[in-house]
Amino acid sequence: MKEALDLSCKYMGLNLKSPLIIGSCGLTYSLEKIKKMEEYGVGAVVMKSVFEEQIISETSKSLDELDSDYVHSEAMGYIKNYTEMASYEKYTNFITEVKKKVNIPVIASINCISDGDWVNYAKRMQDAGADALELNISILPVDFEKSASDYEEKYIRIISHVKENISIPLAVKTSLYFSSLVKTLQTFSYAGADALVLFNRFYESDIDIDNMKIISAGIDKEGIGFQTVLRWISIMNSHVDCSLSATSGIISGKDIVKQLLAGADTVQVATVLYNKGLKHIQSMLDELKTWMLKHNYTSISDFQGKMSYKNVKDPEAYLRIQFMKYFAGIE
Ligand SMILES: Cc1cc2nc3c(=O)[nH]c(=O)nc-3n(C[C@H](O)[C@H](O)[C@H](O)COP(=O)(O)O)c2cc1C
Repeated sequence: MKEALDLSCKYMGLNLKSPLIIGSCGLTYSLEKIKKMEEYGVGAVVMKSVFEEQIISETSKSLDELDSDYVHSEAMGYIKNYTEMASYEKYTNFITEVKKKVNIPVIASINCISDGDWVNYAKRMQDAGADALELNISILPVDFEKSASDYEEKYIRIISHVKENISIPLAVKTSLYFSSLVKTLQTFSYAGADALVLFNRFYESDIDIDNMKIISAGIDKEGIGFQTVLRWISIMNSHVDCSLSATSGIISGKDIVKQLLAGADTVQVATVLYNKGLKHIQSMLDELKTWMLKHNYTSISDFQGKMSYKNVKDPEAYLRIQFMKYFAGIE
């Protein structure tokens, strides 16, 4: 019975065989792992982001190893370019290699620091054969001199500039640090995003209280949170000219169902596969199919968006943010 179910879906114009995408993380920087992901039924993979900052730091590290008394400045420039190219090439060669070995769409991911470089990197990913590109843009708004619109304009500039220069679909993975989130996300879709990925998970800091040090919070703690994403996916559904992909805290087939019902076109997972292994992909898809059978749905489009803000009888439930009477008996 389960074989008769159709999990295929469309995501920013790409045809996927299932709505489960492996989000950008270290697991997608291995051909063997990507092959397994395909075998287990994922719709697409997002490659580990290439971080311009990292390339620059690798480049300067290798330059530091040279003695500038002996190396001519022109030669230094050449070596810098060469080291940068080698780092890009490692990534782009990997995309080309993966594309030869698997049939699922491969989405490249970039994170840049300087405005102009987004386009350079984007073109390189396209030339390497990526089926689509995800821009990992998340600028922490910590500059007291900048207004909300200064930050928003920067995002819009990056999105429209990249869009003008590539022909493959463009996804934008971003954060919820905007004062008018819905309007801003809508503007991103109008600026050229073919998909919005809600929301990026940040590296978070913690305090080591014994050694008085700032440390990494690690990946065990939850990121933005499953329910937060559910709310914003449900509200954004049908208010953008693009696909929506949900990411954060999705760990089971039931979680996939919930995000699709809320209005996501696809979901992206990472942490759960670090905790449970790649085989968990099969269990998640199996649980999705079991639920579809139970509710007599034969394809994803039968139920996608059915519980979005626009489609539920009580949309106010998505907007409730104060507990008020709800937990009154607990304290
Ligand atoms: C170890 C690890 C590395 C990640 N690296 C990236 C990255 O390079 N680029 C990116 O856009 N997201 C990155 N992410 C975020 C994931 O793609 C995903 O959006 C996020 O973790 C939320 O999903 P999850 O709760 O299933 O982990 C990373 C996540 C993890 C756990």
